[in-house]
Amino acid sequence: MTPHVASFFHPDSHTFSYVVHDPATRQAAVIDPVLDYDPDTDALGAGPLQPLLAHVREHGLQVRWLLETHAHADHISAGRWLKPHWPQATLAMGQGIVQVQRTFAPRYALDVPTDGSQFDHLFADGERFALGDIAAEVIAVPGHTSDSVAYRIGDALFTGDSLFMPDGGTARCDFPGGDAAQLYRSIQRLLALPDATRVFICHDYGPGGREVANETTIGDQRACNIHLRDSVSLAEFVATRQARDATLAEPKLMHPSVKANLQGGPQRAT
Ligand SMILES: [Fe+2]
Repeated sequence: MTPHVASFFHPDSHTFSYVVHDPATRQAAVIDPVLDYDPDTDALGAGPLQPLLAHVREHGLQVRWLLETHAHADHISAGRWLKPHWPQATLAMGQGIVQVQRTFAPRYALDVPTDGSQFDHLFADGERFALGDIAAEVIAVPGHTSDSVAYRIGDALFTGDSLFMPDGGTARCDFPGGDAAQLYRSIQRLLALPDATRVFICHDYGPGGREVANETTIGDQRACNIHLRDSVSLAEFVATRQARDATLAEPKLMHPSVKANLQGGPQRAT
């Protein structure tokens, strides 16, 4: 039940994307892939996908899942863009995306479906699926956004923006639909997993000037997470989170990102 995990870092947005595969069957999932985006020219670029595509080719993987952890507000998602590469893959995210669509589509005057139909499948909290022979499950982790989910695939957990590295703490909760108390409760569900669970995070900004990093464990998070180690109460967390969020600027690519990502990202022109 130990999948192989390859990570791909996008320096412009400090995002980690993943290709996860079952070594026995070579079935794979791609999690949170990223496109380049130039806001000055509105141009998209598939450069960040090339190492990921090369990895899939070199390892002879069959991509069966294209998974998003949430509607990202800081980069353009490539899930829908990649779908033509692997028509048999299921493009999926959490059911909460419907609420995100209903919140943001009117705000941006987008004439798009708000029933989640841009995706092949919307996961319910607790839903189980398989990556080849490896059991996987979806854990709803609202708080950073209302649609956030984590994916547990064998002994590997992909947290999206709920948990960062222990010295990075947690993600902001001040976007529409965000809620610090909800994030605290969501993360308690993740911290209840076995200590040895491998944890793969979605963003790292190299706090204190250290090299960027993306893998930790539940045990390390429980012992060391600066916002949410075992001794931190709900009230302490909410106070810390809200004080920090009050200092944060809007992400540079927030509006183009949310517009695109509530639809699973842009489609590739054919
Ligand atoms: Fe995010």
